Amino acid sequence: MLDSILVIGGSAGIGKYIVLEALSDPYFKKVGVLSRKHSVSLDELVSLGANVNVIDYNNSQLLESHMTGYKVVVAIHNTFGDIKDALAMIDAAKKAGVSRFVPNVWGVDYEVNSIIPWLGPRLQIRQHLEKIQLNYTEIILGIFMENITRSGISGCNISFENKIAIFYGDCPASWTHRKDGAKFLVHKLKTETGNNTYRIEGDRKSFRDIVEMVEQRIGTFEKTATDNVLEKYNNVQDPFDCMAGLGKAVSNPNGQVLQPLSSPITVESWLNDLYE
Ligand SMILES: NC(=O)c1ccc[n+]([C@@H]2O[C@H](COP(=O)([O-])OP(=O)(O)OC[C@H]3O[C@@H](n4cnc5c(N)ncnc54)[C@H](OP(=O)(O)O)[C@@H]3O)[C@@H](O)[C@H]2O)c1
Repeated sequence: MLDSILVIGGSAGIGKYIVLEALSDPYFKKVGVLSRKHSVSLDELVSLGANVNVIDYNNSQLLESHMTGYKVVVAIHNTFGDIKDALAMIDAAKKAGVSRFVPNVWGVDYEVNSIIPWLGPRLQIRQHLEKIQLNYTEIILGIFMENITRSGISGCNISFENKIAIFYGDCPASWTHRKDGAKFLVHKLKTETGNNTYRIEGDRKSFRDIVEMVEQRIGTFEKTATDNVLEKYNNVQDPFDCMAGLGKAVSNPNGQVLQPLSSPITVESWLNDLYE
């Protein structure tokens, strides 16, 4: 039974959502958090029952001792460029007797274009897990829904503050709220066997759909839709662009099956919460 879980990088973002989900589920007998520095967020997690420790992630021996006794380790660590530390973390998990590792994917399919510096390492990490025979669960979910309002997202330039949008037209992208990514993982861990790469999406909307939905709430944008994405991104450079530009949402690369989410947060409901 994968009933104990340690989240490395659990103080914020998707890591914190995973910790909160696991703490609220009686299936998990032990929920741990490692973090690089003390924060108020960690105090909150302690008060909810998490075992929290602040450590230096570069200290493999310390990592190993903190991982001992946990069946699942989730790592939200830096996987950009040099992944020496990330691989050391995985080796420490193996030595500590961890049964399953959840590497930092939480985005687009890294096999779409593994030459991207922030994607290539993810393939190496998966290969390493396979080599040392440590089972993994990884989740591809498209773009974090909370990033909708972030200027410069995914190669588009959408400024909600200035109401200017230069965006891809009608090609769909997959959007998932971090909370749904966390819920899905925590649910899946109860029955996991073998190695699994899941593809989920909370919603599928084009950038145009989203800009128009926001316009209904805060007024008209100055809009420029880029129509030549198909031509531009046939030689794909950026997988986010690929997903939006070529209409490849996370669900269907190579025809792979999308995993169902129960009542996911939709873009519409998320915008309602944001603007009302
Ligand atoms: N799909 C998307 O749209 C999208 C967008 C952005 C990022 N991502 C991916 O999703 C992951 C989680 O993103 P997030 O925004 O939810 O979380 P985040 O706020 O970036 O980070 C969550 C935790 O990860 C740890 N962390 C962050 N940078 C680190 C580093 N350089 N070295 C070691 N630990 C580090 C921190 O833990 P402590 O401070 O507690 O140690 C932090 O609290 C990212 O790492 C990235 O791979 C996806």
